[in-house]
Order: sequence, then structure tokens, then C-alpha cells
Amino acid sequence: MTDRTTNARPVLVFDSGIGGLTVLREARVLMPERGFIYIADDAAFPYGNWEEEPLKQRILTLFARLLEEYDPEAVIVACSTAFTLAGAALRQAFPDRRFIGTVPAIKPAAERTRSGLISVLATPGTVKRAYTQELIQSFASQCQVNLVGSPNLARLAEAYIRGEVIDDADVLAEITPCFIEKDGARTDIAVLACTHYPFLANIFRKLAPWPVDWLDPAEAIARQARRLVPHLAEGELCEEYDFAVFTSGQPVFSTHRLMQGFGLRIEAGLHAFSE
Ligand code: DGL
Repeated sequence: MTDRTTNARPVLVFDSGIGGLTVLREARVLMPERGFIYIADDAAFPYGNWEEEPLKQRILTLFARLLEEYDPEAVIVACSTAFTLAGAALRQAFPDRRFIGTVPAIKPAAERTRSGLISVLATPGTVKRAYTQELIQSFASQCQVNLVGSPNLARLAEAYIRGEVIDDADVLAEITPCFIEKDGARTDIAVLACTHYPFLANIFRKLAPWPVDWLDPAEAIARQARRLVPHLAEGELCEEYDFAVFTSGQPVFSTHRLMQGFGLRIEAGLHAFSE
């Protein structure tokens, strides 16, 4: 295990790419005294297109390594595609660890909708998950839930947040299936069920054929993390942390700049996962 001189352990935030930063920024607000390690499994991005079994195995193997290496106080799995697939297996494999998960915000959407028409915008992986079906059956059986699996939005969000120009028409093509009119009623809530998508929320609002509530779960995830992560005693510090590791080992310049904007330096590591 890496030698760390601080006594306070960090919070690890995990995603396939940069989407987990939408959760990290909320977590920092609620846990300002904590240090963070951001892990992006960019060597395997996008997770949304993977078959379930190999992806689950990859995530379990990667976490065995991460937990050993960084010994975090808690792990925020800031990725619906990963957590809906491997959340239960992670908790089973590492029962002494605290995991805070990300799941499609179907329950709050069902509580808030007035029209009863909800859309869930997610990766193709997340819309296929048994977990997502269970959420609908448990919490939204009285609603009509429209699952929209987007093949390209996570990639578009990565490009956009790194400063590249993206085409409105490409974004519109991905979000158009979210908008349904039926018997005089219209979709009034669209769940942002991939942590990459809040980066594009303003573009979604601009392009939407009518206004809907775009539900971003980041704050709720951060609140749950705050409940589970103990407050530090005065004098306890987490100084050495606040860094990011990319499994590709080769983040491009714009990624360095982006991470700096989130107060994270990039550290080397985890090269075995870049194959
Ligand atoms: N950010 C991930 C999520 O919340 C998905 C992106 C990907 O396809 O890798 O589902």
C-alpha cells in the first residue's frame, strides 16, 4: 500500500470518465474537510457499450486494486452504468467498505411528475439493467416510464467539457426520444441517469421542444455520502489527496486543464488497466 502520512483517509470518486466530476463538485461542498481521489477508468470508456459480464469483472478487479492502493474512507461510485451492474457485487466482495451508489433517479421523478410521463435518459447499458426495471416496478408503477438509451451523449459530454465544439443537431437527436405526448399529456421530467449528462444540461434546456425538469442526482448522492462519511476532528487533515488517476495513463492536455479546474492534479498509476 502507498505510504500516506496524513491520518484522515480520502473519499474515492469513481467513473468511467469525467462524468463523476458532476458528483465530486457537490461532494466537495458538503465535505470540504475531506480529500478526494478521482478515478476515471478511461481506458474502458464508454462503459455504456460493454457487455455486462466482462464489465462487471473489470470493475471488481479494478476495485480490488484501488481499495488496496488508496484505502479510502468511502467510495462514491459516480456512474450509473457501473453501479446498476456491479454495486451489489462490490458490496459483497468488499463488505468492510462503504459504497455510495448512483442509480437512475426514478423514485424522485415518480414523486414529482404531474403528467405521469417520465423519461430516463441513460447509457444503453443502464437502460438494459435488471436494476433499472426493479426501480420502475418498485417506485414508478403508476407512471409511464420511457427509457431512452443514448449511444453518443457520454462521448459528446466528454468533448464538450474539454472545450470542443459539439453540434446541436447531434445532441438533439439523442434527447428527442425523451419527449412524448400522449392523450393530451406531455413528458414533464427527464432523469439524467448518467453522470456525464449534467454537463450538457444547459444545451438540453435550450434544445428541448418544451420545458421539462431535468433531474440531476448529484446533490442527493453527495448528501448520502455526507451521511456515511464521518466528519473529521479538528486538526485532522487530508492534505495529500485531491488528485485524479486515469487508467489509460495518458490523459490529454485538455484533461489536465479540466482536472485543474476541479482542484485535482493528475497522478500516474494503474497502468495494468490500460490494455
Ligand atoms: N458516467 C457513466 C454513467 O453515469 C456512463 C458513461 C459511459 O458510458 O461510460 O452511467
